[in-house]
Amino acid sequence: MDEQDEIRIAVIGLGYVGLPTALGLADLGWPVAGVEIDEKKARFIAKGDPPFYEPGLADLLRRGLDSGRFSVADDPDAALQDATVLIVCVGTPRREDGGADLSQIDLAGQAIARNLNGYKLVVQKSTAPVGAAERLRKGIGAAAQPGAQPEFDVAVNPEFLTEGTALDTFFNPDRIIIGADSPRAVALLSEMHRPLLERAGKPPEETLLVTGVGTTEIIKHASNAFLAAKVSFINMVADLCEATNADVADVARAIGMDPRIAPAFLKAGIGFGGSCLPKDVSAFIHVASEHGVDFSLLREAERVNLRRPAQFTGALAQALSGVGGKTIAVWGLSFKPRTDDARDAPSIPIVSALLRDGASLRLHDPQAMREFQTLFPPNPPSLAYADSPESAAEGADAVVILTEWDDYRSVDLPSLRPRMANPLILDGRNCLDPAAVRRAGFDYRGVGRR
Ligand code: UDX
Repeated sequence: MDEQDEIRIAVIGLGYVGLPTALGLADLGWPVAGVEIDEKKARFIAKGDPPFYEPGLADLLRRGLDSGRFSVADDPDAALQDATVLIVCVGTPRREDGGADLSQIDLAGQAIARNLNGYKLVVQKSTAPVGAAERLRKGIGAAAQPGAQPEFDVAVNPEFLTEGTALDTFFNPDRIIIGADSPRAVALLSEMHRPLLERAGKPPEETLLVTGVGTTEIIKHASNAFLAAKVSFINMVADLCEATNADVADVARAIGMDPRIAPAFLKAGIGFGGSCLPKDVSAFIHVASEHGVDFSLLREAERVNLRRPAQFTGALAQALSGVGGKTIAVWGLSFKPRTDDARDAPSIPIVSALLRDGASLRLHDPQAMREFQTLFPPNPPSLAYADSPESAAEGADAVVILTEWDDYRSVDLPSLRPRMANPLILDGRNCLDPAAVRRAGFDYRGVGRR
């Protein structure tokens, strides 16, 4: 049997997770149809234009379309009928009360229910709280045609991809978790991942973990919550370093040399943002309290993170004796480098606070300015966008770095210094070398650094 012809896949939702997943699976040889409800986005993708920036994605999209293994469905119902594995990758935004809004998952469930023309394996991949898979299963069952005997399983296969390195995390996974409660679902998902493990040269027994649906839902949240707590921990250490004239970068490096701690996620700064960590932390706290578990450890990690932007703007105000009437160059708007995504980015509260306090801002980001302008439209002279970090800094009283893009490390600082009104750099990501910046004649301040 040629298994490669056996598994037809539909990916519902072509966003930051869905599109790389769909294209990755197509590149591994599976026929994949993308189902996208946003017609404009669907048109862009079908023409070969990814609707967001992710390194390598445009090439992979072109390859997928040219090979015919990836297509954007003109008729979503037909695509769902044609596929056996239906992967749900829709958005689950945070509600006001901290819980996750699952309405897009519910809608996907209804579309699936309309198209149950044979056995379907529905794979819940959207980041969603514990219980979402069961809710999807019940929703599909309830919406299926009366009298029909729908045959389907709901499994969970969380995506651990990180924006900016999404393709690398897809093609070189450190783990694949299959959360499924039926042997048929486990067999299908294992087979779907077989070419991935072969290509990555990873032994299945070291990479693949098969467990229950509910356990898998906890795994995804626990992973992201742990990373968030690690960042908040080092940020508190940074505060202590600042108070005691120690250097958090050296502390992080030294504690990270202990393999039990490991070096990743020990970069102090203005806090974690993005569509996953902040949302997952609050959803995990919410789910825990719904089940009578007081996850106060995470509550504190969240509180620490929420305080970071105000601490940063406070430090800037102190350095400038107030920001009112000052011109500030803001370098970096996305929540991390190599993405245009500014969702829940620390830049949002920082820019809001500086504008509120009367500063004039010159914003720059290599990729995120278009998205950021939807939140903060240009409004000269108080808010303008610059086409280079240097032009943002022209005549400014300070440069603040909010995202550690490589572009900022390569700015020629000695030639920038005389073009600024006041040579202050406040590095919210500790991405510049303090000694080199000071040698160039700047007053340099990082986070938790001497
Ligand atoms: C995260 C998880 O890492 C990934 O496994 C999951 O699938 C989705 O959520 P992502 O949101 O792309 O990925 O970003 P990540 O690299 O985790 O960074 C999150 C935030 O933490 C960023 O704002 C980043 O700047 C910040 N961060 C990260 C720090 O402040 N310090 C660090 O040491 C690491």
